[in-house]
Amino acid sequence: MKKQFIAGNWKMNLTLDEAGDLARKLYVELDNSSAVDIGVFPAFVFLRDICDIFHGNKVYVGAQNMYLEKSGAFTGEVSGGMLRDVGCTHVIIGHSERRTIFLETNSVINSKIKAALSCGLKPIVCVGEKQEERDADKTYEVVGDQLSEGLAGLTSEEAGELTIAYEPVWAIGTGKTATPEQANEVHTFIRNTIKSKYDVDTAQSIRIQYGGSVNSKNADELLGQPEIDGALVGGASLESGSFLDIVSAAGRLS
Ligand code: 13P
Repeated sequence: MKKQFIAGNWKMNLTLDEAGDLARKLYVELDNSSAVDIGVFPAFVFLRDICDIFHGNKVYVGAQNMYLEKSGAFTGEVSGGMLRDVGCTHVIIGHSERRTIFLETNSVINSKIKAALSCGLKPIVCVGEKQEERDADKTYEVVGDQLSEGLAGLTSEEAGELTIAYEPVWAIGTGKTATPEQANEVHTFIRNTIKSKYDVDTAQSIRIQYGGSVNSKNADELLGQPEIDGALVGGASLESGSFLDIVSAAGRLS
């Protein structure tokens, strides 16, 4: 069993005070055990403060997005180097909200992954199908394309730096979770895709998180699936109690 990785995607939520309170509660409550990897992903403007609270201990801090260029006339964008500068170690790339609302394509996501890796950030790459795609039996086709186009040109060494998050779009923020079996099936497909694209070692070492309405009630069952190596948590990561419950569920498996 790999070490589980539990990440909280705070999305566009919380005030600066609330974000600080949440981070301080996590810092106090979490012990120093390294049984589970934990990450939080606050809004850009809070990153520096949240990095300062954890000061490199207990919890990784990352951004929810970044731009694919290093610097220049890209008004409103933030580069990977800037994220490193304020203390980030990770970045979420290709979240379904970026894909649907901000029209990010697999090709843009591919460039962002390369840009992140080139400045030493570890990407969490999100994949997942929409409800209508699942209904049309296109889950594997969609997720397969997201992987082959999103990871195009990456060496096995680079691919080994990634975490993949399987987030079925229909399960995000809906309270409608994929069953543990449904999630495990797609995770198995993702791992097999990585194996055929790269090699067994890369496929075995890469962590695949599940995301989509994970909460303290369903975490045990989801994280207990053999191919699920962690969770990317939205709503339930905004409150320390529910997030810590999910971390504890992961800890029981290690
Ligand atoms: P919810 O846990 O709120 O469904 O969000 C999942 C998600 O999008 C995490 O990136």
